[in-house]
Amino acid sequence: MEARRPVTTAKLRKMKEDRVPISVITAYDYPSAMLAEQAGIDAILVGDSLGNVVLGYDSTIPVTLEDMIYHTKAVTRAAKTSFVIADMPFMTYHGSVDQTLRNAARLMQEGLAKALKLEGGAEIVPAVQALTQAGIPVMAHIGLTPQSIHQIGGYKVQGKSSAQAEKLLEDAKALEQAGAFAIVLELVTDELAAHLTQTLSIPTIGIGAGASCDGQVLVFHDLLGYAADIHPKRFVKTYAHIGEAIRNGIRQYVDEVKGRSFPAQEHAFHMEDEVAASLYGGGGSSAQAEPASAEEKRVKEPAGQRE
Ligand code: KIV
Repeated sequence: MEARRPVTTAKLRKMKEDRVPISVITAYDYPSAMLAEQAGIDAILVGDSLGNVVLGYDSTIPVTLEDMIYHTKAVTRAAKTSFVIADMPFMTYHGSVDQTLRNAARLMQEGLAKALKLEGGAEIVPAVQALTQAGIPVMAHIGLTPQSIHQIGGYKVQGKSSAQAEKLLEDAKALEQAGAFAIVLELVTDELAAHLTQTLSIPTIGIGAGASCDGQVLVFHDLLGYAADIHPKRFVKTYAHIGEAIRNGIRQYVDEVKGRSFPAQEHAFHMEDEVAASLYGGGGSSAQAEPASAEEKRVKEPAGQRE
């Protein structure tokens, strides 16, 4: 099979033009990014949802720039063709333009992200302009913006009233004008998302924003049922139940350790019979099973597992 070419901002825009849906998933570490890459995902978002689903916080607000750099590094080591976008965390783009650029530079140079995502509307236009002028692709994020959760007052659908919908339309246009290459629409009405998708020339990526967006993004742990305490969300479809599989696997391991059925003979390593005999009088160290002859052991233990 022909190797996939790396996804770029130009490719994402072309996908919108050609009406090819864009698939995005969040990831926060090397194995999940590798699995997403192998599954053919277009883009990976190192979201600050990291705070909720990996670090155990109850919002994204405690997530730091250092956290984001650390996890972005792990993701970009795995994602060779998927386009990696990293979230700028809480209050890292609200100070001076200088400070915003310095923070962004760290995510790009140390994390090796290809683009950055910022939450907010018209009020973040100066930051978006400064970043895009510095050559950093920016993904905007409007609607439900979790970094402002205390101001919004809860995880509520946005854009229901005409005033809200008009404000979001103005924000989206301003962000496109400022140079954003794409925009996340989180928890907004289907009707507004459809209108924004038609109006904007940049791709819209929806989460809880209906089917008319140019692409969709879901949080890794939601999509795969990978959480200790998952709260069902209406806009999420769960495609696997890996949390349950992991819990069952660990439960079986606990049972087998307690019942002494793990480790079994095939997991053990042995010394030559003569060495065992000279040291321990011929019985070997395992009280559980008859020691095999040296020849049998060589056959049973694959070369890579022999000590
Ligand atoms: O942090 C995140 O995972 C996000 C997505 C929900 C879009 O911002």
